[in-house]
Amino acid sequence: MIFHLFKSKKNEKLISEIDKNNLPNHVGIIMDGNGRWAKKRGLPRSAGHRVGAANLKTITEFASDMGIRYITAYAFSTENWKRPKEEVDALMELLLEYLRDKKLLEGNQVRVKFIGDRSVLTDEIRREMDTAEEESAHRTRTTLYLAINYGGQQEIVNAVKNIAKKVEAGQINIDDISLDAVGSELYTEIPDVDLIIRPSGEYRLSNFLLWQSAYSEFWFSNINWPDFTKEDFTQAILDYQNRNRRFGGV
Ligand code: FPP
Repeated sequence: MIFHLFKSKKNEKLISEIDKNNLPNHVGIIMDGNGRWAKKRGLPRSAGHRVGAANLKTITEFASDMGIRYITAYAFSTENWKRPKEEVDALMELLLEYLRDKKLLEGNQVRVKFIGDRSVLTDEIRREMDTAEEESAHRTRTTLYLAINYGGQQEIVNAVKNIAKKVEAGQINIDDISLDAVGSELYTEIPDVDLIIRPSGEYRLSNFLLWQSAYSEFWFSNINWPDFTKEDFTQAILDYQNRNRRFGGV
């Protein structure tokens, strides 16, 4: 308890250092290290995912209170189907539970949306996704995008196909293909991501928001996602605010 108080006091001090006028508009989170977190404790990998999913709720609420407008969390990649069936099933079950939890970000101003290819997900999951989107549509402070069956390369291929169809149909000319034209064919009109947080000691993007991360800043740490705290999030924002973003300029 004393430790908890100490930690929150420390976080209060860190939070007070944040410049509210220079917050990242969009933060991406690669929720990595759930499996290792579980293994260290002799638990099944699914237990790590469960604690990781709960932590996403905590961090999203905290980020929303701080004033972050967009968060995208990588919940299931197009490559995650390669995992053992047992783990894939556990992740899908967890997703269903998460979406059915009526307390999902309740009392907060967080809208839930999804990016990724929904076509191969079960009807049940797709229904719950629609419901979560509809029920949270009126919330305006923060949008949480859950990336499910998402792959950045697949997203770009899909956009290219849509554009090719428009050219074929004579709706646009090849010269009309611009950054905006490609951007508007992506899964959803999501703003470019300013900061990507990847815990667990891995230093890669893993097919996450490839188009949208052209000028992202990155923040890595060795902490496994279930152990990632509000204090770590605050530190990531402070570090971001000390970066000099030039977007190719000088
Ligand atoms: C990476 O950790 C994590 C994932 C592949 C899935 C992330 C999913 C969740 C946090 C839960 C589902 C989310 C919601 C919102 C219901 P890893 O399994 O690769 O960990 P490891 O690298 O330590 O093995």
